[in-house]
Order: sequence, then C-alpha cells, then structure tokens
Amino acid sequence: MDIKLIEEALNSEIRAVDSLQALEELKVKYLGRKGTIAQLTGAIPALAPEQRGLLGRQVNALKQKALELFAEKQGQLAAQPRPEQRAAVDISLPGISQDTGRLHPLTQVIDEICGMFVHMGFTVVDGNEIETEFANFTGLNIPLEHPSREAFDTFYLDVPADSAEGKYLLRSQTSTVQIRAMQKQDPPLAVVAPGRVYRPDAVDASHSFMFHQIEGFMVGEHISFADLKGVLEFFCKGIFGQDIRMRFRPHFFPFTEPSAEVDISCIICKGKGCPVCGRKGWLEILGSGMIHPNVFKTVGFDPKKYTGFAFGMGVERIAMLKYGITDIRLFCENDVRFLKQF
Ligand code: DAH
Repeated sequence: MDIKLIEEALNSEIRAVDSLQALEELKVKYLGRKGTIAQLTGAIPALAPEQRGLLGRQVNALKQKALELFAEKQGQLAAQPRPEQRAAVDISLPGISQDTGRLHPLTQVIDEICGMFVHMGFTVVDGNEIETEFANFTGLNIPLEHPSREAFDTFYLDVPADSAEGKYLLRSQTSTVQIRAMQKQDPPLAVVAPGRVYRPDAVDASHSFMFHQIEGFMVGEHISFADLKGVLEFFCKGIFGQDIRMRFRPHFFPFTEPSAEVDISCIICKGKGCPVCGRKGWLEILGSGMIHPNVFKTVGFDPKKYTGFAFGMGVERIAMLKYGITDIRLFCENDVRFLKQF
C-alpha cells in the first residue's frame, strides 16, 4: 500500500473542498470508522512481524497529518462569509437613480400626427431616402427646367444613373412616396408617409440640410377637395386645439392642381397679429391640392376614373410651433436638457 499516494490524494481533495459540509464528508472518507486510515490500521496485523512496525508508524503519521489538514481547512472555511452574508446590502446607502429614456420630440410628433391619420383609416408607409430623379421630379410632373432640379437644391449621388429613372439622389421631399405607393397598389389608397428629406440649405435657426416631412394622400373614385378639407381640419384641430381656424390659400405645386397652402390661425396671438406670425395672424403649415392627372398617368391610373388629394408638411415646423421651439438645430444637438422637456 503506497502511503505517499494516499497522502497526495488527501491533499488535493482537501484543497478542492469549498464548503464545511463537503469537508465533513471527506473527513468521514479518510478518518471515519470505515475510512481509509482505519482500513490501513486494520491491515497491519496481517503483515509479517518485521513489517508491522514501519507501516504502523507511517499510518500514524498520516493520521496526524490528516487531522491537521482538516482542522486547518475547517478554520479557513469558517472564516469565509456565508452566501447570505455576501449578498447583504447596506440599505442606508443612497440609491442609484435609473434614468428612463424617452422618445425624441420629433418622433413623438410624427407618432401623434400619423396616429390621427390612422384613426381616419390611413396606412403608414415607409419610403426610400435614396431615390431617383423619376420619383423625386419627373413622375411628380416637375419638368426638366424646374429650378429645384438643379444640383443647388438637391444632393445628387456620385453613382452611375439608373437607365430608366435617371440620377440617384437623396430625396428632397416625401412626395416620392406618392409615386412608389401608387406603383405598388391600385386605388382606393389612403397613405401617410413620414420620413427624412435632404436639401443643401445653409443651416440656421430655421433651416437644416436634413429635416422630416409627412406626406399624405388619398386616391379613389370620388375623392374631392371637400374630403381634403375635412381630413386636414380634423388634423389641425387635433394637433393645435379645437378652437384653431384653418384656411386654404391658393398656391402652385407641380404635382397638384388646384394647389393650396394651408394656414392655421396663429397659436400665439390667436389671429390678432404678433412677431411669431409676422403680424399676419396666420401660420403656414403645409402644402396640398388635388393630385395632378399627369401624376396618375405616370403610375398608370386612369385620371378620368380616379381623383385624389395630397398634402405634405414639415415635421420640425409643426413641432416648433406646437412647443414654442425657436431653433431647429436643437432637434439634433442631443442635449438632454432640451430633450427631457418633452
Ligand atoms: N412636397 C412639397 C414640398 O416639399 C410639399 C407638398 C405640397 C406636398 C403640396 C404635397 C402637396 O403632397 O400636395 O414643399
């Protein structure tokens, strides 16, 4: 019997033990009544007399060693904190406050506006920010010589043009979604399309190279200007309050005929005239009109059968009016002191 091997095994087993209970079990294995050391002791009388003395001394030494190791390990384990003590919390310490996030004010306004149109049966649709000359201009009845087609007003992309749809660009208006949605789906259609648009404008308190628009349109067999008026009045009162007044002011847009800009009575002075409305008493909030027959022809709808209205608004402008924000740059500065207010 190799006493050395047994001692090594004992050593490594004791080292691996990590609880008092496991230590007790190991102690029984080695020092118990039927344990390893008891078995060794029991084997001594069967040996030749001259061997008994040597083994006897070795077994005694091992037993002594084992008792020491167990006592030492027991001391170590008892000094360690128990699991429930380790988890103890000092409840007198100040708490760590959890900052809750919130939606960006523009996202909130987009959700609120789209929610109102969804309530009226509109579907919310996404459009591409990278578009073609066709969807941004030609298909919308914006002729080649129109000044907004020049590079000055549009970010053109430095990639080969599409053979059918012309140059690629960052869309400068969400009206592109009129084309894309009508290409995909036949009337009846009632769609709102929120999203980013891009224009190479110099940045100041009221201009940015990127801003958000919401486009809306409805196409069917008997859609009239009266439908446009009803839908927009519901929207204006929902956003700005029931006592707001709304007016159509004749205007020109290539993709609608007739076209009109929509003003609301100034939310600051209630129409009396103040610096915010430039003493006019009215604030312009969107462009609108009846969809031009040429737009229907672009997407293959019969303009004799279908009519429709469209409108487009700038989200930043509406948010600024609604909350009295005076600088468009605040929306993208990511200053939590600003964002926390909404
Ligand atoms: N796309 C126009 C713009 O960016 C806004 C607009 C005007 C959209 C009239 C329309 C519309 O759908 O009918 O200035």
